[in-house]
Amino acid sequence: MSLIAAWDVLTRSEEGTISLGRAIGDSLSPGDAVLISGELGTGKTRLVQGIAAGLGTADRPRSPTFVLVNRHIGRLVLHHCDLYRLEGTAEVEELGLMERVDDGDVLAVEWPERARAALPEDAMEVTMKRGSGEEDRSITLTQNGPLSSRLLRAARSGFNAAKAES
Ligand SMILES: Nc1ncnc2c1ncn2[C@@H]1O[C@H](COP(=O)(O)OP(=O)(O)O)[C@@H](O)[C@H]1O
Ligand SMILES: [Mg+2]
Repeated sequence: MSLIAAWDVLTRSEEGTISLGRAIGDSLSPGDAVLISGELGTGKTRLVQGIAAGLGTADRPRSPTFVLVNRHIGRLVLHHCDLYRLEGTAEVEELGLMERVDDGDVLAVEWPERARAALPEDAMEVTMKRGSGEEDRSITLTQNGPLSSRLLRAARSGFNAAKAES
């Protein structure tokens, strides 16, 4: 069993990022959390759309404008948060996300650095950056505990298998 600390992926279109998200969504287990950092327009919400598709949800996540969290129901219940407009950690604590995750739901969070202390410690962290081409995105995924380590490994093998098939 190989232990990887980080995995780098380069996507060249929004479809590539959605495919990566789908591999993550396919691999999620109860209690998993995915924390997605990156500037506006790097594709965080596209990645969440893939995650939701991988979980088999019927609706497509968008960037929440006024609410901090949207819920999507698939194989597991996904809570999608965008903390961009967040005023403080207390606001996230009030959402009760930790309790939901403890109960087996899963979490996808944009702008997690706004309230990192109020989010699960063991989480897969995804960092998205623009590359040299207009549609290039350099995406780094890291793990920091047993849950996120399992998720990272499963998502990587799922993504590579899907790529090999296409
Ligand atoms: N490789 C790529 N991955 C994701 N999005 C991309 C990519 N290339 C271009 N885009 C575009 O970048 C934008 C990303 O938007 P969005 O996912 O809402 O970003 P964020 O949530 O990070 O602000 C979309 O308009 C999408 O079409
Ligand atoms: Mg977004």
